[in-house]
Amino acid sequence: MQNSVTVIAPVNIAVIKYWGKRNESLILPINDSLSVTLSTADLCSKTTISADPSYESNQIILNGKEENFENERILRCFEMIKQRALEAESCPKELLDCKIHVDSENNFPTAAGLASSASGYACLVYGMAQLYSLKKQEISDIARMGSGSACRSIYGGFVQWQKGVELDGNDSMAVQIAPASHWPDLNVLILVVNDSKKKVGSTSGMARSVVTSELIKYRVEKCVPQRIHSITQAIKDRDFPKFAELTMRDSNQFHAICLDTFPPCVYMNDVSHAIVSYIHEFNKNEGETKVAYTFDAGPNACLYLPEKYVKRVLSFINHVFPNDNQESVEYIRGTPVELENE
Ligand code: PMV
Repeated sequence: MQNSVTVIAPVNIAVIKYWGKRNESLILPINDSLSVTLSTADLCSKTTISADPSYESNQIILNGKEENFENERILRCFEMIKQRALEAESCPKELLDCKIHVDSENNFPTAAGLASSASGYACLVYGMAQLYSLKKQEISDIARMGSGSACRSIYGGFVQWQKGVELDGNDSMAVQIAPASHWPDLNVLILVVNDSKKKVGSTSGMARSVVTSELIKYRVEKCVPQRIHSITQAIKDRDFPKFAELTMRDSNQFHAICLDTFPPCVYMNDVSHAIVSYIHEFNKNEGETKVAYTFDAGPNACLYLPEKYVKRVLSFINHVFPNDNQESVEYIRGTPVELENE
């Protein structure tokens, strides 16, 4: 009876953003989204889960600090995984009866507001699935119940989260559209912009947008379906300028919706806006689109760019944000990653 597993799950950064739920409790989105799952070396969560008859209660430690296991989302993921394992008879009943201990760590700065919930929940659910011998194909919907975007981190490479149409969410799941090996020289540079201001969490931000933004309806109906189609083709063709333009346009539209939300959700700061201008200036001076930016629900920039331009772009960034300047930015580098057992 295996009673301890350690797994890692990488972050994913969306190029077509998920923003808004049609069902809050089942975490069903109002639009499809598409992301790239990024290298495990610099950006990942690592989770060890053990089950033992001697444990008296379930326990979870996140980044060295004990958290409440009774948290609604954690508990729901745990109950769903156990139920599925019971139905599949994938592991001994005695193992399912044991309490579990979870120890999870992110190897990137959590304070930076990077996509930590995606890799964290993907890791938790994947670890539980391994413990109870469930297959990966059976758990993307459960990861979704932890944090919507986590369902995309269950797969490597280029991943689409199909919103689905079913009321019960059975068809709302992540699918890989291309493996990491399809476009390995696509790099990401995450520029960590220092910002101490408190932000509106993505759950409450998107709930507010769905109720108050008028632009969000336009985006969902008129923009996202075409964008998903076009960016999938750009990925298949490894057409960087096309991929880049769609990525930047979608990031800009997502933040326009955040500002159209009432009261507005302000995620980008002055440094973020300066980065946007600098990237457009850089691409213009180079005579072609060599780098794209995208921003999640925070001020940090994720730059997508082909490997051959990384040096040039980094020296440009260091030039516009010199180290001695208060606005200096640190960066983390990654590439698309394949997951184990894929
Ligand atoms: O999965 P959540 O609830 O953390 O929402 C993530 C939303 C964005 O990061 C802003 C967009 C995305 O598609 O990842």
